[in-house]
Amino acid sequence: MKRMEFTLVAVVGLARYVVTADLALIPAPREMTVTGGACPCATAPKVEVVASIPPEGYELSVRRDGVTIRHSDEAGLFYAKTTLAQLRNRGGAGFRATAQATDGQKPVPAEIPCVEIKDAPAFKWRGLMLDECRHFFGKETVKGILDLMAAYKLNVFHWHLTEDQGWRLDISGFPELVQYGAVRPESPKHGCRGVQGDYRGNGQPYGPFFYTPDDVREILAYAKERFITVVPEIEVPGHIRALLAAHPEFACREGVPRVPCTLNGIEGDVLCAGNDEAIAFMEKVYDEVCALFPGTYIHIGGDECPKKRWKECPKCQTRIKALGLGNEDGLQAWVTRHFTEHLAKKGRRAVGWDEILAGNPGTETVVHNWRKPEFGVKAAEKGHDVVISSSRTTYFSVSQGVKDDPFDYYSRRRLPLSVAYTFNPLAGMSAEARGRVLGAECCAWSECIWNEYDLAFKLWPRGFAFAEVLWTYPDPAKRDFAEFSVRAAEHRRRLIDAHVNCAPLK
Ligand code: ACM
Ligand code: ZN
Repeated sequence: MKRMEFTLVAVVGLARYVVTADLALIPAPREMTVTGGACPCATAPKVEVVASIPPEGYELSVRRDGVTIRHSDEAGLFYAKTTLAQLRNRGGAGFRATAQATDGQKPVPAEIPCVEIKDAPAFKWRGLMLDECRHFFGKETVKGILDLMAAYKLNVFHWHLTEDQGWRLDISGFPELVQYGAVRPESPKHGCRGVQGDYRGNGQPYGPFFYTPDDVREILAYAKERFITVVPEIEVPGHIRALLAAHPEFACREGVPRVPCTLNGIEGDVLCAGNDEAIAFMEKVYDEVCALFPGTYIHIGGDECPKKRWKECPKCQTRIKALGLGNEDGLQAWVTRHFTEHLAKKGRRAVGWDEILAGNPGTETVVHNWRKPEFGVKAAEKGHDVVISSSRTTYFSVSQGVKDDPFDYYSRRRLPLSVAYTFNPLAGMSAEARGRVLGAECCAWSECIWNEYDLAFKLWPRGFAFAEVLWTYPDPAKRDFAEFSVRAAEHRRRLIDAHVNCAPLK
Protein backbone atom coordinates (compact mmCIF):
# COMPACT_ATOMS: atom_id res chain seq x y z
CA MET A 1 0.00 0.00 0.00
CA LYS A 2 2.77 2.37 1.02
CA ARG A 3 4.66 1.57 -2.18
CA MET A 4 1.54 2.25 -4.30
CA GLU A 5 0.99 5.61 -2.67
CA PHE A 6 4.59 6.51 -3.32
CA THR A 7 4.28 5.55 -7.00
CA LEU A 8 1.11 7.59 -7.36
CA VAL A 9 2.69 10.68 -5.86
CA ALA A 10 5.70 10.29 -8.12
CA VAL A 11 3.48 10.03 -11.20
CA VAL A 12 1.34 12.99 -10.17
CA GLY A 13 4.49 14.94 -9.46
CA LEU A 14 5.87 14.20 -12.89
CA ALA A 15 2.54 14.97 -14.57
CA ARG A 16 2.41 18.30 -12.82
CA TYR A 17 5.88 19.16 -14.03
CA VAL A 18 5.14 18.45 -17.66
CA VAL A 19 1.67 19.91 -17.63
CA THR A 20 2.61 23.09 -15.81
CA ALA A 21 5.28 23.86 -18.36
CA ASP A 22 2.87 23.04 -21.16
CA LEU A 23 0.04 25.25 -19.86
CA ALA A 24 2.54 27.96 -19.04
CA LEU A 25 0.63 29.53 -16.19
CA ILE A 26 2.46 32.26 -14.27
CA PRO A 27 2.08 32.34 -11.36
CA ALA A 28 1.58 28.57 -11.22
CA PRO A 29 -1.69 27.78 -9.41
CA ARG A 30 -1.27 26.38 -5.94
CA GLU A 31 -3.32 23.28 -6.85
CA MET A 32 -4.08 22.11 -10.36
CA THR A 33 -5.22 18.87 -11.97
CA VAL A 34 -5.32 18.51 -15.73
CA THR A 35 -8.28 16.31 -16.55
CA GLY A 36 -7.74 15.92 -20.31
CA GLY A 37 -9.55 17.21 -23.36
CA ALA A 38 -10.56 20.75 -24.06
CA CYS A 39 -13.55 23.02 -23.80
CA PRO A 40 -14.34 24.64 -27.14
CA CYS A 41 -16.49 27.12 -25.25
CA ALA A 42 -17.01 30.68 -26.36
CA THR A 43 -19.70 31.38 -23.79
CA ALA A 44 -19.08 33.33 -20.60
CA PRO A 45 -18.18 31.24 -17.55
CA LYS A 46 -20.77 30.29 -14.94
CA VAL A 47 -19.94 32.16 -11.73
CA GLU A 48 -20.80 31.03 -8.19
CA VAL A 49 -20.11 32.69 -4.84
CA VAL A 50 -18.74 30.28 -2.22
CA ALA A 51 -18.12 31.95 1.14
CA SER A 52 -15.52 29.40 2.29
CA ILE A 53 -13.04 30.31 -0.47
CA PRO A 54 -10.22 32.47 1.00
CA PRO A 55 -9.84 36.18 0.13
CA GLU A 56 -8.55 36.68 -3.44
CA GLY A 57 -8.84 32.94 -3.98
CA TYR A 58 -10.87 31.11 -6.60
CA GLU A 59 -11.70 27.74 -8.02
CA LEU A 60 -11.71 27.31 -11.76
CA SER A 61 -13.26 24.29 -13.35
CA VAL A 62 -12.87 23.87 -17.10
CA ARG A 63 -14.85 20.89 -18.39
CA ARG A 64 -15.75 19.84 -21.91
CA ASP A 65 -19.19 21.41 -21.55
CA GLY A 66 -18.26 24.73 -19.96
CA VAL A 67 -16.32 26.78 -17.45
CA THR A 68 -17.27 27.44 -13.81
CA ILE A 69 -15.65 29.96 -11.50
CA ARG A 70 -16.18 29.91 -7.74
CA HIS A 71 -15.01 32.76 -5.56
CA SER A 72 -15.84 34.63 -2.36
CA ASP A 73 -14.76 38.17 -3.25
CA GLU A 74 -14.46 40.30 -6.36
CA ALA A 75 -10.65 40.03 -6.41
CA GLY A 76 -10.95 36.24 -6.53
CA LEU A 77 -13.28 36.48 -9.51
CA PHE A 78 -10.82 38.79 -11.22
CA TYR A 79 -7.89 36.40 -10.63
CA ALA A 80 -9.94 33.45 -11.91
CA LYS A 81 -10.53 35.38 -15.13
CA THR A 82 -6.85 36.24 -15.30
CA THR A 83 -5.94 32.56 -15.12
CA LEU A 84 -8.59 31.75 -17.71
CA ALA A 85 -7.13 34.41 -19.99
CA GLN A 86 -3.69 32.79 -19.72
CA LEU A 87 -5.18 29.38 -20.55
CA ARG A 88 -6.96 30.86 -23.57
CA ASN A 89 -3.95 32.80 -24.62
CA ARG A 90 -1.56 29.93 -25.13
CA GLY A 91 -1.55 30.73 -28.83
CA GLY A 92 -0.13 34.11 -27.97
CA ALA A 93 -2.52 36.96 -28.73
CA GLY A 94 -1.50 40.43 -27.58
CA PHE A 95 -1.25 40.77 -23.84
CA ARG A 96 -3.19 43.99 -23.40
CA ALA A 97 -5.99 42.53 -25.51
CA THR A 98 -6.06 39.45 -23.31
CA ALA A 99 -6.19 41.47 -20.12
CA GLN A 100 -9.21 43.31 -21.48
CA ALA A 101 -10.86 40.09 -22.54
CA THR A 102 -10.88 39.00 -18.88
CA ASP A 103 -13.48 41.65 -18.18
CA GLY A 104 -16.19 39.23 -19.12
CA GLN A 105 -18.22 40.85 -21.86
CA LYS A 106 -16.39 39.37 -24.81
CA PRO A 107 -14.82 35.98 -24.12
CA VAL A 108 -12.22 35.06 -26.71
CA PRO A 109 -13.47 32.05 -28.71
CA ALA A 110 -10.63 29.58 -28.21
CA GLU A 111 -10.17 26.06 -26.91
CA ILE A 112 -9.37 25.88 -23.23
CA PRO A 113 -7.67 22.78 -21.79
CA CYS A 114 -9.77 21.00 -19.16
CA VAL A 115 -8.41 21.69 -15.68
CA GLU A 116 -9.52 21.86 -12.07
CA ILE A 117 -7.74 24.67 -10.21
CA LYS A 118 -7.91 25.72 -6.56
CA ASP A 119 -5.91 28.82 -6.02
CA ALA A 120 -5.24 31.58 -3.49
CA PRO A 121 -2.25 33.81 -2.82
CA ALA A 122 0.44 32.95 -0.30
CA PHE A 123 0.99 36.64 0.53
CA LYS A 124 -1.47 39.52 0.59
CA TRP A 125 1.05 42.29 -0.28
CA ARG A 126 2.38 41.57 -3.78
CA GLY A 127 3.97 44.81 -4.79
CA LEU A 128 5.96 46.62 -7.40
CA MET A 129 7.72 49.90 -6.64
CA LEU A 130 8.36 52.51 -9.31
CA ASP A 131 10.69 55.47 -8.76
CA GLU A 132 9.40 58.34 -10.91
CA CYS A 133 11.81 60.91 -9.46
CA ARG A 134 15.21 60.10 -10.90
CA HIS A 135 13.36 59.55 -14.16
CA PHE A 136 9.73 60.20 -14.93
CA PHE A 137 7.68 57.77 -17.00
CA GLY A 138 4.17 59.24 -17.09
CA LYS A 139 0.60 57.99 -17.05
CA GLU A 140 0.61 55.70 -20.09
CA THR A 141 3.67 53.81 -18.90
CA VAL A 142 2.19 53.50 -15.43
CA LYS A 143 -1.03 52.11 -16.91
CA GLY A 144 0.99 49.57 -18.90
CA ILE A 145 2.71 48.48 -15.69
CA LEU A 146 -0.64 48.18 -13.91
CA ASP A 147 -1.92 46.00 -16.77
CA LEU A 148 1.00 43.63 -16.41
CA MET A 149 0.86 43.67 -12.62
CA ALA A 150 -2.77 42.55 -12.85
CA ALA A 151 -1.90 39.90 -15.46
CA TYR A 152 0.58 38.40 -12.98
CA LYS A 153 -1.64 38.88 -9.90
CA LEU A 154 0.39 41.64 -8.27
CA ASN A 155 -1.77 43.96 -6.17
CA VAL A 156 0.24 46.84 -4.62
CA PHE A 157 1.65 49.66 -6.72
CA HIS A 158 4.17 51.54 -4.57
CA TRP A 159 4.62 54.93 -6.19
CA HIS A 160 7.88 56.62 -5.19
CA LEU A 161 6.99 60.26 -5.85
CA THR A 162 9.51 62.40 -3.98
CA GLU A 163 13.28 62.40 -3.91
CA ASP A 164 16.44 64.49 -3.91
CA GLN A 165 16.20 64.56 -7.72
CA GLY A 166 12.51 65.42 -8.16
CA TRP A 167 9.11 66.09 -6.59
CA ARG A 168 6.42 64.57 -8.81
CA LEU A 169 3.13 65.31 -7.03
CA ASP A 170 1.19 68.55 -7.41
CA ILE A 171 -0.88 68.80 -4.25
CA SER A 172 -3.57 71.28 -3.54
CA GLY A 173 -2.33 74.43 -1.79
CA PHE A 174 1.39 73.83 -2.45
CA PRO A 175 2.12 74.76 -6.09
CA GLU A 176 5.72 75.70 -5.23
CA LEU A 177 6.60 72.03 -4.69
CA VAL A 178 6.35 71.24 -8.38
CA GLN A 179 7.37 74.73 -9.50
CA TYR A 180 10.81 74.20 -7.97
CA GLY A 181 10.90 70.48 -7.35
CA ALA A 182 9.66 68.94 -10.62
CA VAL A 183 12.32 70.37 -12.90
CA ARG A 184 16.10 70.13 -12.77
CA PRO A 185 18.80 71.76 -14.86
CA GLU A 186 20.37 68.47 -15.94
CA SER A 187 20.77 64.75 -15.24
CA PRO A 188 23.83 62.49 -15.04
CA LYS A 189 25.57 62.27 -18.38
CA HIS A 190 26.11 58.53 -18.42
CA GLY A 191 22.89 57.21 -17.02
CA CYS A 192 23.81 55.92 -13.66
CA ARG A 193 27.09 56.17 -11.83
CA GLY A 194 29.25 57.42 -14.63
CA VAL A 195 31.45 55.55 -17.03
CA GLN A 196 35.08 55.01 -16.06
CA GLY A 197 35.07 57.80 -13.52
CA ASP A 198 33.39 60.30 -15.86
CA TYR A 199 30.58 61.44 -13.59
CA ARG A 200 29.02 64.76 -14.48
CA GLY A 201 25.86 66.33 -15.81
CA ASN A 202 24.61 66.18 -19.38
CA GLY A 203 23.58 69.86 -19.57
CA GLN A 204 20.03 68.99 -20.62
CA PRO A 205 17.15 70.44 -18.56
CA TYR A 206 14.76 67.74 -17.34
CA GLY A 207 11.08 68.54 -16.73
CA PRO A 208 8.90 69.92 -15.40
CA PHE A 209 7.43 66.45 -14.91
CA PHE A 210 4.75 65.77 -12.32
CA TYR A 211 1.26 64.34 -11.73
CA THR A 212 -1.74 66.59 -11.13
CA PRO A 213 -4.49 65.49 -8.71
CA ASP A 214 -6.60 64.58 -11.77
CA ASP A 215 -3.78 62.41 -13.13
CA VAL A 216 -3.56 60.67 -9.78
CA ARG A 217 -7.30 60.05 -9.70
CA GLU A 218 -7.11 58.58 -13.21
CA ILE A 219 -4.33 56.20 -12.15
CA LEU A 220 -6.16 55.30 -8.93
CA ALA A 221 -9.31 54.42 -10.90
CA TYR A 222 -7.27 52.38 -13.39
CA ALA A 223 -5.54 50.53 -10.55
CA LYS A 224 -8.81 49.90 -8.70
CA GLU A 225 -10.35 48.24 -11.75
CA ARG A 226 -7.41 45.83 -11.60
CA PHE A 227 -7.63 45.22 -7.83
CA ILE A 228 -4.41 47.11 -7.25
CA THR A 229 -3.90 49.35 -4.22
CA VAL A 230 -1.68 52.39 -4.70
CA VAL A 231 0.76 53.23 -1.89
CA PRO A 232 2.28 56.69 -2.40
CA GLU A 233 5.71 57.38 -0.95
CA ILE A 234 6.51 60.85 0.34
CA GLU A 235 9.96 60.72 1.93
CA VAL A 236 10.86 62.21 5.28
CA PRO A 237 13.35 63.23 6.69
CA GLY A 238 16.01 62.38 4.04
CA HIS A 239 15.91 62.21 0.23
CA ILE A 240 14.05 65.51 0.33
CA ARG A 241 16.22 67.98 -1.60
CA ALA A 242 13.50 68.60 -4.22
CA LEU A 243 11.21 69.79 -1.41
CA LEU A 244 14.03 71.93 -0.01
CA ALA A 245 14.38 73.52 -3.47
CA ALA A 246 10.89 74.94 -2.87
CA HIS A 247 11.37 75.50 0.87
CA PRO A 248 15.06 76.01 1.69
CA GLU A 249 13.96 77.43 5.07
CA PHE A 250 13.13 73.85 6.17
CA ALA A 251 16.77 72.74 5.92
CA CYS A 252 19.13 72.84 8.90
CA ARG A 253 21.52 75.26 7.20
CA GLU A 254 21.17 78.27 4.95
CA GLY A 255 22.12 78.30 1.29
CA VAL A 256 20.53 75.06 0.04
CA PRO A 257 20.20 75.51 -3.75
CA ARG A 258 16.73 76.16 -5.21
CA VAL A 259 16.98 73.19 -7.56
CA PRO A 260 16.76 69.43 -6.99
CA CYS A 261 19.93 67.35 -7.15
CA THR A 262 21.15 66.73 -10.67
CA LEU A 263 23.47 63.80 -9.96
CA ASN A 264 22.65 60.59 -8.09
CA GLY A 265 23.71 59.82 -4.56
CA ILE A 266 22.62 60.44 -0.99
CA GLU A 267 22.05 64.12 -0.32
CA GLY A 268 23.40 65.58 2.93
CA ASP A 269 20.72 68.25 3.34
CA VAL A 270 17.63 66.81 5.00
CA LEU A 271 14.52 68.14 6.73
CA CYS A 272 15.33 70.09 9.90
CA ALA A 273 13.65 67.89 12.48
CA GLY A 274 14.10 70.56 15.13
CA ASN A 275 12.05 73.12 13.18
CA ASP A 276 8.38 73.08 14.23
CA GLU A 277 7.33 74.84 11.03
CA ALA A 278 9.02 72.19 8.89
CA ILE A 279 7.22 69.45 10.83
CA ALA A 280 3.87 71.30 10.55
CA PHE A 281 4.45 71.72 6.81
CA MET A 282 5.03 67.99 6.33
CA GLU A 283 1.87 67.26 8.31
CA LYS A 284 -0.11 69.38 5.83
CA VAL A 285 1.56 67.62 2.92
CA TYR A 286 0.56 64.24 4.35
CA ASP A 287 -2.99 65.56 4.93
CA GLU A 288 -3.25 66.40 1.23
CA VAL A 289 -1.76 63.03 0.28
CA CYS A 290 -4.38 61.32 2.44
CA ALA A 291 -7.12 63.38 0.80
CA LEU A 292 -5.97 62.17 -2.61
CA PHE A 293 -5.00 58.54 -1.94
CA PRO A 294 -7.70 56.40 -0.29
CA GLY A 295 -5.53 53.38 0.63
CA THR A 296 -4.63 52.46 4.20
CA TYR A 297 -0.86 52.59 3.74
CA ILE A 298 1.26 55.72 3.22
CA HIS A 299 5.01 55.20 2.76
CA ILE A 300 7.07 57.81 4.62
CA GLY A 301 10.51 56.74 3.34
CA GLY A 302 13.06 57.19 6.11
CA ASP A 303 16.00 55.54 4.32
CA GLU A 304 19.51 56.90 3.95
CA CYS A 305 19.13 60.01 6.10
CA PRO A 306 22.64 61.32 6.85
CA LYS A 307 22.86 62.79 10.35
CA LYS A 308 25.66 65.33 9.77
CA ARG A 309 23.38 68.37 9.44
CA TRP A 310 21.38 67.38 12.51
CA LYS A 311 24.61 67.06 14.51
CA GLU A 312 25.53 70.64 13.58
CA CYS A 313 22.04 72.17 13.88
CA PRO A 314 21.11 74.03 17.11
CA LYS A 315 17.37 73.41 16.57
CA CYS A 316 17.82 69.67 16.06
CA GLN A 317 20.14 69.42 19.08
CA THR A 318 17.62 71.35 21.20
CA ARG A 319 14.86 68.86 20.23
CA ILE A 320 17.11 65.91 21.10
CA LYS A 321 17.87 67.35 24.55
CA ALA A 322 14.37 68.64 25.30
CA LEU A 323 12.75 65.27 24.53
CA GLY A 324 15.60 63.14 25.93
CA LEU A 325 16.04 61.42 22.55
CA GLY A 326 19.70 60.63 23.22
CA ASN A 327 21.14 61.13 19.75
CA GLU A 328 20.32 61.67 16.07
CA ASP A 329 19.00 58.11 15.66
CA GLY A 330 16.58 58.95 18.47
CA LEU A 331 15.59 62.09 16.57
CA GLN A 332 14.81 60.06 13.45
CA ALA A 333 12.75 57.65 15.56
CA TRP A 334 10.86 60.68 16.90
CA VAL A 335 10.17 61.81 13.31
CA THR A 336 8.94 58.31 12.43
CA ARG A 337 6.70 58.14 15.49
CA HIS A 338 5.38 61.65 14.89
CA PHE A 339 4.23 60.99 11.33
CA THR A 340 3.06 57.47 12.13
CA GLU A 341 0.80 58.95 14.80
CA HIS A 342 -0.29 61.80 12.55
CA LEU A 343 -1.33 59.33 9.85
CA ALA A 344 -2.94 57.00 12.39
CA LYS A 345 -5.29 59.83 13.41
CA LYS A 346 -6.59 59.65 9.85
CA GLY A 347 -6.91 55.88 9.97
CA ARG A 348 -3.75 55.31 7.92
CA ARG A 349 -0.68 53.18 8.54
CA ALA A 350 2.82 54.49 7.93
CA VAL A 351 5.42 52.33 6.18
CA GLY A 352 9.16 53.16 6.41
CA TRP A 353 12.37 51.69 4.99
CA ASP A 354 14.32 49.55 7.45
CA GLU A 355 16.76 52.31 8.54
CA ILE A 356 13.93 53.56 10.76
CA LEU A 357 14.70 50.65 13.10
CA ALA A 358 17.90 52.35 14.32
CA GLY A 359 16.20 54.53 16.92
CA ASN A 360 13.54 51.98 17.96
CA PRO A 361 10.34 53.62 16.72
CA GLY A 362 7.02 52.14 17.82
CA THR A 363 5.91 48.90 16.23
CA GLU A 364 2.88 50.62 14.66
CA THR A 365 5.10 51.54 11.70
CA VAL A 366 5.33 48.88 9.01
CA VAL A 367 8.99 48.22 8.18
CA HIS A 368 10.01 47.87 4.55
CA ASN A 369 13.19 45.79 4.46
CA TRP A 370 15.60 46.52 1.61
CA ARG A 371 19.10 46.06 3.02
CA LYS A 372 20.23 42.68 4.28
CA PRO A 373 17.38 40.23 5.03
CA GLU A 374 18.51 40.31 8.69
CA PHE A 375 16.86 43.71 9.06
CA GLY A 376 13.54 42.27 7.91
CA VAL A 377 13.90 39.42 10.41
CA LYS A 378 14.84 41.85 13.18
CA ALA A 379 11.84 44.07 12.43
CA ALA A 380 9.40 41.15 12.43
CA GLU A 381 10.89 39.77 15.64
CA LYS A 382 10.48 43.15 17.30
CA GLY A 383 6.78 43.08 16.41
CA HIS A 384 6.60 45.21 13.25
CA ASP A 385 4.58 44.11 10.27
CA VAL A 386 7.08 43.88 7.43
CA VAL A 387 7.28 44.09 3.65
CA ILE A 388 10.39 42.57 2.11
CA SER A 389 12.35 43.97 -0.84
CA SER A 390 15.67 42.28 -0.33
CA SER A 391 17.89 44.27 -2.70
CA ARG A 392 19.94 41.22 -3.73
CA THR A 393 16.88 39.47 -5.16
CA THR A 394 14.20 42.10 -5.82
CA TYR A 395 15.97 45.27 -7.00
CA PHE A 396 15.19 45.00 -10.70
CA SER A 397 16.88 48.36 -11.25
CA VAL A 398 20.16 46.56 -11.79
CA SER A 399 21.24 44.74 -14.88
CA GLN A 400 20.03 41.15 -15.35
CA GLY A 401 23.36 40.05 -16.73
CA VAL A 402 22.10 39.02 -20.17
CA LYS A 403 24.24 39.25 -23.27
CA ASP A 404 23.79 42.33 -25.45
CA ASP A 405 21.87 44.25 -22.80
CA PRO A 406 21.26 47.65 -24.43
CA PHE A 407 20.61 49.25 -21.04
CA ASP A 408 23.54 47.99 -19.03
CA TYR A 409 24.99 51.18 -17.61
CA TYR A 410 24.97 49.98 -14.03
CA SER A 411 27.90 47.67 -14.44
CA ARG A 412 28.69 46.83 -10.84
CA ARG A 413 25.73 44.66 -9.89
CA ARG A 414 23.86 41.83 -11.53
CA LEU A 415 20.53 40.21 -10.74
CA PRO A 416 19.86 37.38 -13.21
CA LEU A 417 16.42 35.79 -13.57
CA SER A 418 17.71 32.64 -11.82
CA VAL A 419 18.58 34.73 -8.74
CA ALA A 420 15.22 36.54 -8.83
CA TYR A 421 13.58 33.09 -8.69
CA THR A 422 15.44 32.27 -5.43
CA PHE A 423 13.78 35.16 -3.56
CA ASN A 424 12.40 33.98 -0.23
CA PRO A 425 10.56 36.62 1.78
CA LEU A 426 10.44 34.27 4.77
CA ALA A 427 14.16 33.43 4.89
CA GLY A 428 15.49 33.27 8.44
CA MET A 429 12.10 34.04 10.05
CA SER A 430 10.82 32.21 13.12
CA ALA A 431 7.25 30.87 12.92
CA GLU A 432 6.02 33.91 14.86
CA ALA A 433 7.95 36.38 12.70
CA ARG A 434 6.57 34.75 9.53
CA GLY A 435 3.10 35.80 10.61
CA ARG A 436 4.20 39.45 10.41
CA VAL A 437 5.37 39.30 6.80
CA LEU A 438 2.65 41.04 4.82
CA GLY A 439 4.45 40.28 1.58
CA ALA A 440 7.06 41.83 -0.65
CA GLU A 441 7.83 44.26 -3.43
CA CYS A 442 10.13 44.25 -6.40
CA CYS A 443 11.68 47.67 -6.99
CA ALA A 444 12.45 49.71 -10.09
CA TRP A 445 14.72 52.53 -8.91
CA SER A 446 15.26 54.80 -11.86
CA GLU A 447 18.77 56.22 -11.54
CA CYS A 448 19.63 53.58 -14.11
CA ILE A 449 16.29 53.35 -15.90
CA TRP A 450 15.93 56.19 -18.35
CA ASN A 451 12.82 55.41 -20.37
CA GLU A 452 9.86 53.06 -20.69
CA TYR A 453 11.75 50.60 -22.93
CA ASP A 454 14.50 50.25 -20.38
CA LEU A 455 11.89 49.96 -17.62
CA ALA A 456 10.04 47.12 -19.35
CA PHE A 457 13.33 45.38 -20.14
CA LYS A 458 14.35 45.47 -16.49
CA LEU A 459 10.96 44.43 -15.07
CA TRP A 460 10.34 41.40 -17.29
CA PRO A 461 10.88 38.51 -17.09
CA ARG A 462 12.19 39.01 -13.54
CA GLY A 463 8.72 40.24 -12.56
CA PHE A 464 7.33 36.80 -13.52
CA ALA A 465 9.67 35.15 -11.00
CA PHE A 466 8.73 37.65 -8.32
CA ALA A 467 4.99 37.24 -8.98
CA GLU A 468 5.24 33.45 -8.70
CA VAL A 469 7.16 33.63 -5.42
CA LEU A 470 4.54 35.92 -3.91
CA TRP A 471 1.45 34.12 -5.15
CA THR A 472 2.44 30.46 -5.23
CA TYR A 473 5.42 30.52 -2.86
CA PRO A 474 7.04 27.39 -4.29
CA ASP A 475 9.08 25.60 -1.61
CA PRO A 476 12.45 27.45 -1.61
CA ALA A 477 14.32 24.16 -1.16
CA LYS A 478 12.64 22.52 -4.16
CA ARG A 479 12.25 25.34 -6.65
CA ASP A 480 12.74 24.14 -10.18
CA PHE A 481 14.27 26.97 -12.16
CA ALA A 482 14.55 24.86 -15.32
CA GLU A 483 10.81 24.24 -15.33
CA PHE A 484 10.04 27.88 -14.52
CA SER A 485 12.31 29.02 -17.37
CA VAL A 486 10.15 27.17 -19.90
CA ARG A 487 7.07 29.06 -18.76
CA ALA A 488 8.98 32.34 -18.51
CA ALA A 489 10.20 31.94 -22.10
CA GLU A 490 6.62 31.48 -23.29
CA HIS A 491 5.44 34.58 -21.40
CA ARG A 492 8.39 36.54 -22.65
CA ARG A 493 7.34 35.62 -26.19
CA ARG A 494 3.79 36.81 -25.51
CA LEU A 495 5.03 40.12 -24.14
CA ILE A 496 7.24 40.66 -27.14
CA ASP A 497 4.24 39.88 -29.40
CA ALA A 498 2.39 42.57 -27.47
CA HIS A 499 5.29 44.99 -28.07
CA VAL A 500 6.52 44.93 -24.49
CA ASN A 501 10.29 45.19 -24.44
CA CYS A 502 11.40 42.12 -22.57
CA ALA A 503 14.89 40.83 -21.76
CA PRO A 504 16.38 37.71 -23.39
CA LEU A 505 16.44 34.84 -20.95
CA LYS A 506 20.17 34.13 -21.34
C1 ACM B 1 16.65 52.32 -0.80
O1 ACM B 1 17.04 51.55 -1.70
N1 ACM B 1 17.37 53.38 -0.49
C2 ACM B 1 15.41 52.10 -0.10
ZN1 ZN C 1 17.99 71.00 12.02
